[in-house]
Amino acid sequence: MSEGERLTELAKRRGFYFPAAGAYGGAAGFWTYGPQGAALKSNVEDAWRDRFVVREGHQEISAPDVMPEPVFEASGHLDGFDDMIIECAECGATHRADHLVEDNTDIEEAESLPNEEVMDIIADHDIACPSCHASLAGEPVDNFNLMFETNIGPGTSSPGYLRPETAQGIFVEFPQLSEYARNQLPFGVAQIGKAYRNEISPRKSLVRVREFTQAELEHFVDPEEDEPPLSEVEDVILPLYSAESQQADDGGVEHLTVGEAVADGVVTSDWVAYYLGVAKGWYERIGVDMDRFRFRQHLPGELAHYASDCWDAEAEIDGDWIEITGFAYRGDYDLEKHAEHSGEDFTVFKQYDEPVTVERPTVDPDMSYLGPEFGGDAQTVADALEALAERNPEAFDGDEVTVEVDGDSFTVPVAETNFSVEEVTENGEHVRPHVVEPSFGVGRLVYTVLAHAYTEDEVDGEERTYLDLPPEQAPTTVGVFPLMDKDGMADYAREIAGALREAGHSVTYDDSGAIGRRYRRQDEIGTPYCVTVDYESLEEDTVTLRERDSTDQKRVSIDGLAETLERLTEG
Ligand code: GAP
Repeated sequence: MSEGERLTELAKRRGFYFPAAGAYGGAAGFWTYGPQGAALKSNVEDAWRDRFVVREGHQEISAPDVMPEPVFEASGHLDGFDDMIIECAECGATHRADHLVEDNTDIEEAESLPNEEVMDIIADHDIACPSCHASLAGEPVDNFNLMFETNIGPGTSSPGYLRPETAQGIFVEFPQLSEYARNQLPFGVAQIGKAYRNEISPRKSLVRVREFTQAELEHFVDPEEDEPPLSEVEDVILPLYSAESQQADDGGVEHLTVGEAVADGVVTSDWVAYYLGVAKGWYERIGVDMDRFRFRQHLPGELAHYASDCWDAEAEIDGDWIEITGFAYRGDYDLEKHAEHSGEDFTVFKQYDEPVTVERPTVDPDMSYLGPEFGGDAQTVADALEALAERNPEAFDGDEVTVEVDGDSFTVPVAETNFSVEEVTENGEHVRPHVVEPSFGVGRLVYTVLAHAYTEDEVDGEERTYLDLPPEQAPTTVGVFPLMDKDGMADYAREIAGALREAGHSVTYDDSGAIGRRYRRQDEIGTPYCVTVDYESLEEDTVTLRERDSTDQKRVSIDGLAETLERLTEG
């Protein structure tokens, strides 16, 4: 059995996750988290909120899942959020063409290749349809948009889409959000919420699904001025698999500190390097195995339409590398697009410490002629100058102005134009922030943490399976059992369970079956401690406290038990 298969079996049996709506045959790509899974997911989200929102001093919002079409026209998702699809002429099944190439050849990132090349590779390798085994050679590779479309209100006049990333819910609210941040850069806005993608081929249970939770941070920075606090993470060692390494024949993962990665130019954005450092410590905290982990840089053809650089955090499971987070440098792509499409102001007004006096060209309103030697007709020149009059500082340099006319650029002495130069006092300037975006897939984190925690050993000659989850992440922190359901032991154990719940612990009370089996059940869901009430408990007010990994037991006083557990399980 593969790691993934045994995990899916355990997940269903012990209530972590299972296919949704099974009674009706289900729908591929939708999963329900059971009681243990929902608790684990919520613990991962809490740990994320603690590290990336609270400790960074950022704000959290909650935007709608459905948004109107213009949002996604502006963001580029309507046009460009596509995957490569190939349809089998024999049975009609559809598949991700790039995945077929990756599964059947040595090529690792087929997503970065053009459609025609993928089609040729499928033909050259005579790749067959996974559903009916007919050859797919010669079938076209097309683009398929991943967004789920819906209608807002009755009728079809107002199309909407389920958001494919939570990020757009932050970008569209930027004017409001920057006001809350008192127009002070840098500031970060985070969101944990659902995202939806109509994946062509959902697979590997929680890894590729159609509805999933993202935890995203959009950190707005002034690219000219703001620097990350690199000194806080400069000694953190990053396992980096750069684009250059991937393209080199003998390329491999380099282990560099954050400081070295920045100094050597391996990670070009200081902000991205900062978040890689912060995230590395956080992955360790939630239980990702650092021996099965790397940061991989996107190859140039693989970058999303909005990103100029991106590093993925990847975890190894079953020999495959799974992307659990993307760290993208989005520049001002999104804010610029939303400004352009909405006509609203998506900048921050940066106040100067002291007002400054600058020289600006102003346009004579009667002006209609710049001189034939500068090209274009009067109308075009007027348009160009009108744009200039909207304070285009780059266009004006001392005694000269530069204008674009019909795509050509002309630098003209001010004296030869109809401009006059005026001294203006300015109190500040409009800055369009750049965005650094760490974007985490919560389901993939849950899957990775479970896969990496899955452990088999032998206890008293018997095979045992347990999850060595960090106590802070475990869905249940303590199991409470009476040794037997007699002589008042069960009542006493229930009383202890109640008191521990009251103190904020997540407790399972269990009195059914042999005590060994009860321990095994808790081991399989990763419960770090079990408390057993026995005859001695009734006489001495002590219980046995059993530790999951070692299975060691010791007697502890009931007095102070909640505090003892608190100390043992805190992150
Ligand atoms: N806002 C940027 C963004 O959405 P992405 O790399 O497309 O970037 C971010 O997605 C994260 O969301 C991924 O690293 C992954 O963990 C998760 N994710 C993306 N598609 C997913 C899917 N179909 N199923 C489960 N998780 C997914």
